[in-house]
Amino acid sequence: LDNGLARTPQMGWNDWNTFFCNINESLIRQTADVMVSSGMAAAGYKYVNIDDCWSTKSRNASGDLVPDPQKFPSGMKALADYIHAKGLKLGIYSSAGTTTCAGYPASLGYEQRDAALWASWGIDYLKYDNCGDHQGRNGQQRYTAMRDALAATGRPIAYSLCNWGQESVWTWGMPVGNSWRTTGDIAANWSSITGILDQQVGLEAYSGPGGWNDPDMLEVGVGSLTATEGRVHFSLWSLLNAPLIAGNDLRSMSAETLSILTNTEVIAVNQDWGGRQGHKISDNGNLEVWRKPMANGSVAVVLLNRGTSTSTLSTTASALGLGSASSYSVRDLWAHTTSTSSGTISASVPGHGAAMYIVTGGGIVPTPSGTIKGAGSGRC
Ligand code: GLA
Repeated sequence: LDNGLARTPQMGWNDWNTFFCNINESLIRQTADVMVSSGMAAAGYKYVNIDDCWSTKSRNASGDLVPDPQKFPSGMKALADYIHAKGLKLGIYSSAGTTTCAGYPASLGYEQRDAALWASWGIDYLKYDNCGDHQGRNGQQRYTAMRDALAATGRPIAYSLCNWGQESVWTWGMPVGNSWRTTGDIAANWSSITGILDQQVGLEAYSGPGGWNDPDMLEVGVGSLTATEGRVHFSLWSLLNAPLIAGNDLRSMSAETLSILTNTEVIAVNQDWGGRQGHKISDNGNLEVWRKPMANGSVAVVLLNRGTSTSTLSTTASALGLGSASSYSVRDLWAHTTSTSSGTISASVPGHGAAMYIVTGGGIVPTPSGTIKGAGSGRC
């Protein structure tokens, strides 16, 4: 969406993956505090997003949504002021149907009214879900109606479509939103993450600056996901140019979780201004190689071991799309070390683990034109 926002994938936090409906303004304020004090804001995270269950169960007499006075006694304007004073931005949630997924009032038929209310509070981001009755209208119509209502407010509001990949949203998402969910809901376990990963194959053609495929929010530091699995998740979501929306409790995260979420070398792959989404280049049973061409002529690569025991994975500069050179520089984005290679990149990778590198040398050999639809154009 050409609204000047999300020219690189949006970064922030959302309450849903850990707190579901157990939210209140203290949680949001404390999260904003930690986002700054932990160094996450300095690493690029800026949106603090409220998900479902923030309102009362019905609209007020004038037809407006009302923040639940038990959960948000100070109101949303005061909360937005607090967040803005920290240099951060506040996001809210609704649905392109008659109710949200948790059964609260939603915005179908109330697009202008709700967008104007959010803008008056100082809201900076809308996650727009797909629950409730659709009144016979398709997704493109319902999501476009809210795009136009947000634009009419005159306030820059990042717009995240959440229709779970239905109606092949990637084929019409670019002029409608800043990102679009490509799948159902993520869960904090390995099979969910690898299952979602499989559903991203082929979608790289559709994303680019201003509009990103969204394989759902991060589960790093949540549930049963180990730190090794968390590094896989963060590496691949970065390579896929996914919005990086943390979903853990920032107030109690371990040093290891923080170090994953603030690995600025991995984040730099996600935020590369060229905006070309990474994709899978080889698949040998449980061993996969993913690459992303970077704007400066380097290539980012993830060597993924989906099996349960340690295996050696390798690829070559040529397979990564690099031209020939007498030597290549290989930067390990997790070990933070640099080595040189004559053309083979290989690593011993633990089960449910990944290695991630940036390989430089030889320049990127151009791919045939037309293979990347969204990327690099700088427009929607
Ligand atoms: C849907 C969305 C989730 C979350 C919940 C809230 O399931 O896909 O991300 O927003 O609704 O009820």
